[in-house]
Amino acid sequence: MIDPDIRRARTLPAAYYTDPELHARLGARVFGRAWQLVDADAAGAAGSVAPFTQTGCGEPMLLARDGAGTLRALSNVCTHRGNLVCTEAGPAQGLRCRYHGRRFGLDGRFISMPEFEGVADFPSAEDDLAPAALATLGPLTFVALDPERPFAELAAPVEARVALDGLEPDPSGTRAYEVAANWALYCDNYLEGFHVPFVHPGLARAIDYGSYETELLGPVILQVAQAADGAAAFPGSTVAAYYFFLFPTTMLNFYPWGLSVNVVVPLAVDRSRILYRRFVRDRALLEVGAGAGLDRVEAEDEAVVEQVQIGVRARGYRRGRYSPSRETGVHHFHRLLVSAA
Ligand code: FES
Ligand SMILES: [Fe+2]
Repeated sequence: MIDPDIRRARTLPAAYYTDPELHARLGARVFGRAWQLVDADAAGAAGSVAPFTQTGCGEPMLLARDGAGTLRALSNVCTHRGNLVCTEAGPAQGLRCRYHGRRFGLDGRFISMPEFEGVADFPSAEDDLAPAALATLGPLTFVALDPERPFAELAAPVEARVALDGLEPDPSGTRAYEVAANWALYCDNYLEGFHVPFVHPGLARAIDYGSYETELLGPVILQVAQAADGAAAFPGSTVAAYYFFLFPTTMLNFYPWGLSVNVVVPLAVDRSRILYRRFVRDRALLEVGAGAGLDRVEAEDEAVVEQVQIGVRARGYRRGRYSPSRETGVHHFHRLLVSAA
């Protein structure tokens, strides 16, 4: 539905950004199969648990770190009659459902259940909490319920280009914003530097627009911004920023100071939450170059995507065309989205 030839292609139909039914279908098909970032620090110590909701599909999940320190992601739904097993983060030896007392180990295994004597074929593997896939990339942890692809397809392009050591979590850089726009509009905007001179005058001074490059790496889209003359770059290089997009909603932004992560969380067809976390390697470089003033850049992006949400809802708009030189990332994202939907 999106022509592979960008010169012939038309952009994503407006319904993708506006139709609640299509939005719900994408939730199950795309996000039910996607690798999504989770906050593993919530279950940081050995013998602890933390509930979370899988981004985009609303699946109730929990993180459990057992006594030996092994971290697992498990379904948070009791296998008896569906109560949520874990409602609060904290230390735990095991899990006990507060509805009728079913017990599970921190590995998800069924342990015991009152008043079930004589039940046939019980317990079985179906009575354990279902595990999800879990993987790490530097300081980041990802979970997938039913992974569409091996995690290595997301991790390898990142590992090949940037260092992931020495990145310390910096809670002072944590942010959460709510945007009145569809999640994919926010991604579209992220995936092109085309708008930088128009929307981000401050950022435009830090990067060299002419040499801005987009690389299509399977489920990863990498944008590389070279530093403007005299602006901050990575040591021994002229690169100001590497912007990695991991399909469908994870954005890893590497700057000389470290890593800024943002994730788009779909809340409704026309509403999203943007979560930011920061990992710092060199604090002295925080407010220089392309990695400076990120709150302002975010506000500029949000204002424009909120306007676009109003526009794509209008009767006067159906779909557009792509710039072959500046919108290869958006085109590729649309192709990934349509093929996953
Ligand atoms: S729903 Fe959990 S024990 Fe009944
Ligand atoms: Fe932007």
